[in-house]
Amino acid sequence: MANVSRRPVARRTGAWIAWVLMALSAVGIALFSAIPYLTFSPGVSRIPLNPAFPWHIVGLSLHAIPGGLALLLGPFQFVPALRGRYPALHGIIGRVYLASILVGSVMGVYSAIVSVSGLAAQLGFLLLAAAWFYSGLLAFVAIRRRQISLHRDWMIRNYSFTFAAVLLRVFLAAGIAYRNANPSLPFAEVYTASVWCSIFVSYVVAEWFIIQRAPAPAARTAVKAGQPLAQA
Ligand code: HEM
Repeated sequence: MANVSRRPVARRTGAWIAWVLMALSAVGIALFSAIPYLTFSPGVSRIPLNPAFPWHIVGLSLHAIPGGLALLLGPFQFVPALRGRYPALHGIIGRVYLASILVGSVMGVYSAIVSVSGLAAQLGFLLLAAAWFYSGLLAFVAIRRRQISLHRDWMIRNYSFTFAAVLLRVFLAAGIAYRNANPSLPFAEVYTASVWCSIFVSYVVAEWFIIQRAPAPAARTAVKAGQPLAQA
């Protein structure tokens, strides 16, 4: 029985550690990557701009700024105590977050179309932008219909796609380190692989969170009722 009652505590501690790591890396990437684009100056771009599209930097900035805002706001929406105590604030932050996704994903599509990073990377970004927009839309529809659990699941998916921006930079850093040891590897391949890996990992982690949270209400009820959780 002692083991049974410790399980939810261990789970909560793990979730708290995961949240802190997620929030710190989100803040780090939002500040490091997105803030320079507040100037809308071509000089700040870390990727090559397409000379055929003078508006490239404007589209990229209008993508990076709301993307950074969404990265910053997202973690707070997952804190149960904040949601419970300040539901109105949760609603306001949620609207700002979803508006950021709307602008960020539309400008993400533009940035992907005019990108000079190659077709495979462009297709990955287009897929990610579609998933980003669609999951945000379904999260919004679910909450309008008061389908709380469905809303939570779609927001987990949506923030995992937002967080793909963090994973992309982690994979890219690892890829560049690997390329330093293997200079014959073209940078474009490292970049494309990083894009697709970040999409794949963010999606799988989101589904894992959704699945492993699913039995939690039943488990909590059983613990409160003092029943063993042998098969839970
Ligand atoms: C999740 C959906 C996202 C999609 C589909 C997406 C799409 C794109 C695309 C297509 C580019 C141009 C890449 C190239 O031409 O090679 C780009 C660059 C960029 N994105 Fe995103 N992005 C997403 C999320 C984010 C988020 C959440 C941030 C917040 C920091 C962000 C910040 C940036 C920045 C700063 C750049 C310019 C490159 C750099 O300076 O690192 N993106 N994104």
